[in-house]
Amino acid sequence: MKKVDVILGLQWGDEGKGKVVDVLTPNYDVVARFQGGPNAGHTLEFCGEKYVLRSIPSGIFQGGKPNIIGNGVVLDAILFRGEAEALAKSGHDLTRQLCISKKAHLILPTHRILDAAYEAAKGSAKIGTTGKGIGPTYTDKVSRNGMRVGDLLKPDFKEIYAAHKARHEQILRSLNYDYDITELEAEWFEAVEYLKQFRIVDSEYFINECLKEDRPILAEGAQGTLLDVDFGSYPFVTSSNTVCAGVCTGLGVAPNRIGEVFGIFKAYCTRVGSGPFPTELFDQTGDDLGRIGHEFGAVTGRKRRCGWLDLIALKYSIMINGVTQLIMMKADVMNGFDTIRVATGYEINGERTEQFPFDVDVDIKPIYTDFEGWKCDISQCKSYDEFPAAFKNYVEFIERETGVPVKIISVGPDRGETIVR
Ligand code: GDP
Ligand code: IMO
Ligand code: MG
Repeated sequence: MKKVDVILGLQWGDEGKGKVVDVLTPNYDVVARFQGGPNAGHTLEFCGEKYVLRSIPSGIFQGGKPNIIGNGVVLDAILFRGEAEALAKSGHDLTRQLCISKKAHLILPTHRILDAAYEAAKGSAKIGTTGKGIGPTYTDKVSRNGMRVGDLLKPDFKEIYAAHKARHEQILRSLNYDYDITELEAEWFEAVEYLKQFRIVDSEYFINECLKEDRPILAEGAQGTLLDVDFGSYPFVTSSNTVCAGVCTGLGVAPNRIGEVFGIFKAYCTRVGSGPFPTELFDQTGDDLGRIGHEFGAVTGRKRRCGWLDLIALKYSIMINGVTQLIMMKADVMNGFDTIRVATGYEINGERTEQFPFDVDVDIKPIYTDFEGWKCDISQCKSYDEFPAAFKNYVEFIERETGVPVKIISVGPDRGETIVR
């Protein structure tokens, strides 16, 4: 029986998951998202076109294969409609190709408002969420108050919605939060009708049937391990399990059906939103990483914070996920750098540690190992052999430190700018 291979981010998101899923899709029959929602922004570039996907899996551009939005995903009908209509306009009609789990939870208009209201109430301690209603929707799911895609097929779905809305409005009143939901709600009802033309399925059965038929499946993560609700820099995290275990609960796949785990990381680090970031740079080098790497959020347009690669965090993520192959992204951004630094230890309260700390408000001083820059354009290289020695030295150091091979190296945003070893 085939297994489900997994691609997931090892940092704070935006590692380049969308690009690599698109590159690897030709090896698979099915691609499935297992968690997150439209807080994700996955960028794909090919044939001079650029696409940003938020709820729709990144396998949709390769050969009309089934793409699944799994039960672990939270879905905003309005944003989904915008995304699907834009794709239809550019010639990609997904009504047959896309399957949506009946058990995926719906982001209601009031969830978005609650997200804003909770952030406002937190003041300077705010998380810096994407404002898409992710936290409130997952909260309702766990507290057994959620509304699911399958509920839309029931004749009384409007009453079900009204009960959820009333409960949310009560909370908003207690927070003294001003809002007007009229337009958003009207748009939501239209979007829900639009959604119903897609295949709404029992995706856990669909996926397990595919496995029985020996059809290879790729699970696409959103966000990154350091944003995981259990293992990330809590409370500055998202509200889902972004780690490999999330594939089991978010798709209905048994743990012994997990195959390769591809862990993606940038050759440096970025983070958007609040929270700890030990190797963050506040100098010219940080600005250079942001400028050359175009580090602005694909969803919110917010400037991403930039810093050096953090091997303590990377090893932690590899451990939690059981990563079997590493994928290194965006090293081309550092083509012109004289020196490249990697954090290989932390100093906390005068003591050296190689563990990711529990407390997020401690002062972490990274201990760096320095590497000579390669000082040439690696985007032009077509095979690993063509890379300059200084770059290979960087890659091989990471392999030695982590004990995991770097199997794919991405040297530009385009589908073609990818080297598989
Ligand atoms: P995701 O959320 O993990 O899919 O990543 P995002 O799409 O949010 O951010 C990755 C950004 O880096 C996108 O703008 C990509 O087009 C771009 N990108 C991906 N791989 C590379 C690469 O190897 N080099 C460069 N320079 N850009 C890349
Ligand atoms: P992709 O899939 C980067 C961050 C937000 C915020 C925190 C919580 O494109 O890598 P949320 O809206 O989820 O409640 O926000 O998580 N965040 C992301 N950062 N990439 C993402 O997705 C993210 N999704 C959420 O900035 O700090
Ligand atoms: Mg992104």
